[in-house]
Amino acid sequence: MKKVTIHTLRKMKQAGERITMLTAYDASFARLLDQAQIDVLLVGDSLGMVVQGHDTTLPVTMDQMVYHCAAVARGAKRAHLVGDLPFGSYQATPDEAVKNAVRLVAEGGMEAVKLEGGAEYGEVIERIVRAGVPVMGHIGLTPQSVHKMGGYVVQGRGEDKAARLLADARALEEAGCYSLILEAIPGELGAEITRSSSIPTIGIGAGVECDGQVLVIYDLLGMNPDFSPKFVKKYANLAEVIGEAAARYRDEVRARSFPTAEHTFSAEKAAPKPAAQTKSAMKIALPLSGNAEERPLKLYSVPGRE
Ligand code: KIV
Repeated sequence: MKKVTIHTLRKMKQAGERITMLTAYDASFARLLDQAQIDVLLVGDSLGMVVQGHDTTLPVTMDQMVYHCAAVARGAKRAHLVGDLPFGSYQATPDEAVKNAVRLVAEGGMEAVKLEGGAEYGEVIERIVRAGVPVMGHIGLTPQSVHKMGGYVVQGRGEDKAARLLADARALEEAGCYSLILEAIPGELGAEITRSSSIPTIGIGAGVECDGQVLVIYDLLGMNPDFSPKFVKKYANLAEVIGEAAARYRDEVRARSFPTAEHTFSAEKAAPKPAAQTKSAMKIALPLSGNAEERPLKLYSVPGRE
């Protein structure tokens, strides 16, 4: 297993290899996505919406980001780890931005931070990079500016606006960003920014010519049947899978067909099981031999541990 670093991503751009990136907010998802060889895991402040249920990403705090980053870092081994600087954590002063970026790395176990905005954040980016923290930029639709944009609307349409985004991309690269998220912009503009940048671009609703793609994991998995924007492809329908599983559980509990003897501890000593069976990926293992005091239960699955 070779760890993905900022150098890996640069080489992938140079070789024309596509970069895959997804959001993750906890250790269980991080482990699964890491094992699926997703190159970059982003602990996005989108967690304010998909995990916390807010209408925007604005209420997410630094403490919450640190908490989720640390959980993701515990679940991943290979992927490059990026943590979002939340609204209000980098806008006021460069000093505060550096302090908060350092927190995501030191306490949250991240390897880079992402922040939203264009040329106006040049100084902030330079300062964070100088402190030893790689910065991923984010331009186009920047959800933290939802009120300034007047809603979540496609950006960069029209010559002037496209030129401004091109200039922003250039300014972010000059300030020291190692990579750039392009969100909700015309595909042609995504391609032009990608061609004119020597750092990798990662698109979300920015066309196929970007050096990589990112999606919010809950969207890709189809967790919300009422959410189907143009830029999202649902690779699964987990809303249905989860709904069906929960309904089966509900019915079996009501009918007293769960738990059966298989899932019930007996007062008797359990007979030892063959080794192959004892290694099974049971979430809660029964005592294999001896009494419960001798063999502790495995309670809840910890990603990466049996
Ligand atoms: O917060 C987030 O998840 C993001 C991605 C959608 C790029 O910024």
